[in-house]
Amino acid sequence: MKSLACISLVCAAVFWPSVVRCYGEPSRLPIKRHLHGHITPEQVMTFLYEPFDVPPGVNSIYVLQNYTDKSLGNSLDIGIFDVRGHRIADAQNGTSGWRGWSGGARSNFTITPAWATPGYNPGPIQPGTWYVTLDIELGYNPVHEYFSTDYASTSLDPFPNAYENETWLRGDFHLHSIYSDGHYLPEEQIMNAVHRDLDFMFFTEHNTYSGNDVYGTWSSLAPDLLIGRGIEVTTRHGHWQALGVDRGQMIEWRYDPGDNPGLLDAMHQVRRGGGLVSINHPFQLCSRCNWGFNDYDHNDALEVWNGQWDPTDELAVQKWQELLVSGKQTTGIGGSDAHSFPDVTALPTTVVRTRGKNQADILDAVKKGHAYLVRDPGMSLDFLVHVGNATAQMGDKIPSFYGNAKAILLTTGLKGLKACFVSEKGCFSNRTISSATMTQSFADVRFVRVEIRNATDAMVGLTNPVYFV
Ligand SMILES: *[C@@H]1O[C@H](CO)[C@@H](O)[C@H](O)[C@H]1NC(C)=O
Ligand SMILES: *[C@@H]1O[C@H](CO)[C@@H](O)[C@H](O)[C@H]1NC(C)=O
Ligand SMILES: *[C@@H]1O[C@H](CO)[C@@H](O)[C@H](O)[C@H]1NC(C)=O
Ligand SMILES: *[C@@H]1O[C@H](CO)[C@@H](O)[C@H](O)[C@H]1NC(C)=O
Ligand SMILES: *[C@@H]1O[C@H](CO)[C@@H](O)[C@H](O)[C@H]1NC(C)=O
Ligand SMILES: *[C@@H]1O[C@H](CO)[C@@H](O)[C@H](O)[C@H]1NC(C)=O
Ligand SMILES: *[C@@H]1O[C@H](CO)[C@@H](O)[C@H](O)[C@H]1NC(C)=O
Repeated sequence: MKSLACISLVCAAVFWPSVVRCYGEPSRLPIKRHLHGHITPEQVMTFLYEPFDVPPGVNSIYVLQNYTDKSLGNSLDIGIFDVRGHRIADAQNGTSGWRGWSGGARSNFTITPAWATPGYNPGPIQPGTWYVTLDIELGYNPVHEYFSTDYASTSLDPFPNAYENETWLRGDFHLHSIYSDGHYLPEEQIMNAVHRDLDFMFFTEHNTYSGNDVYGTWSSLAPDLLIGRGIEVTTRHGHWQALGVDRGQMIEWRYDPGDNPGLLDAMHQVRRGGGLVSINHPFQLCSRCNWGFNDYDHNDALEVWNGQWDPTDELAVQKWQELLVSGKQTTGIGGSDAHSFPDVTALPTTVVRTRGKNQADILDAVKKGHAYLVRDPGMSLDFLVHVGNATAQMGDKIPSFYGNAKAILLTTGLKGLKACFVSEKGCFSNRTISSATMTQSFADVRFVRVEIRNATDAMVGLTNPVYFV
């Protein structure tokens, strides 16, 4: 039986002296193990699994890592795998021995039956051979209680199909807390969401579901706010969003382009549980944050606007436009990626049209393209197209037409800004929003959508397209 700590690092070779401690029966002293080694340049960006023995009776594991030349940009990510092992999850078997991950955000962590450092999963400590590269302390403290999960409800509807008509719900699909590399507490993020007038939020921690197991602890702070379950799958070749994961579901992140099992197996696991796949910030500049898989065929959505509008978002919108022109009906969504003060939660806000306030309906709305993005609370819009007797809404696919159609843009809080009507030919009309209702005639296009920008061309609002098929 074994459990594994897994490390990987960025940049040059490093030496890594570290500590592992485990605790068990109070009468016994902790066992300390000091492991050290050298990571060669060839091992950079790989995952290393080092074994260590956990004797029976041990009921806590403390791991402390240290490594050299941090100032040169070295970083050593940490995580741990339990007795189930560290096999790579594939499309058939979506499980592995994951027990937590903190990447480069922490130097040490503890796991006990009752609690664990955020990002790690508390629970029984199985004896056997564990693997780690770090200083470890194995302890024998008395156990008074065991961890129990506290899931936030993924539906706030009193009964299924509670609403006769669809309504617009405001939300954020990309949020972090101390459960990975953020400093916001979960309760702070929940209150941030309330202050930004949200109906729903998705916590999406990097490569860990330990937060999803317990966010219900704080849901009473905002009984009308739906807290969805997500994971930001943080690979060495870009990040993608697994939205709507199941209870206790983890999604694999340890693969390179072309690996089998690899990216497609992991995406399959998300969809199998009813979830949705979105590619995050495809052009973000931090190391290994941009999308390196060159695969835009297996995602439902693309994060075209990540946090404060910047040139990398401009590139994401250009990429999205390319995909739309090529015939892919990918939904554009937003995410604030808020981690820590002063990051602004729900900048941007994604607004979806749904039948109910529940995770399944919200994700279904995204899959259907029933969504738009705005920068701030107090801003909202609707976008409709009249062709003949038919009226289409964002995401709708209506028969192609000859002759004229009329688009209608309804806005609140966006007056004075420029609205660009965009088709496969690009922006074909660029007009100032001077009233709450604006109409635009057009003809012979395959899709039409709207970008609303301020005087210095930063995005303030963005619709999904109406498609003519
Ligand atoms: C890590 O190693 C450095 C250099 O070897 C040392 O100065 C530092 O105190 C160590 N930190 C810990 C937490 O052991
Ligand atoms: C699935 O993976 C788990 C964890 O690695 C392992 O224990 C189990 O045997 C695997 N099941 C199959 C059918 O391969
Ligand atoms: C262990 O981690 C905590 C929080 O992440 C940090 O405050 C503390 O200094 C770390 N301990 C050591 C010995 O590095
Ligand atoms: C639902 O929409 C229909 C048609 O627009 C309208 O007549 C009805 O009053 C709406 N129901 C509710 C509960 O708003
Ligand atoms: C549009 O509406 C008119 C009048 O209501 C009707 O005569 C016509 O058949 C409709 N056209 C289509 C294509 O449904
Ligand atoms: C729309 O007009 C504004 C100025 O009025 C300009 O800054 C912007 O670049 C134009 N956008 C497009 C896509 O032409
Ligand atoms: C447009 O928005 C950007 C980013 O939100 C902001 O930095 C800029 O000052 C705004 N420009 C104007 C003219 O308001």
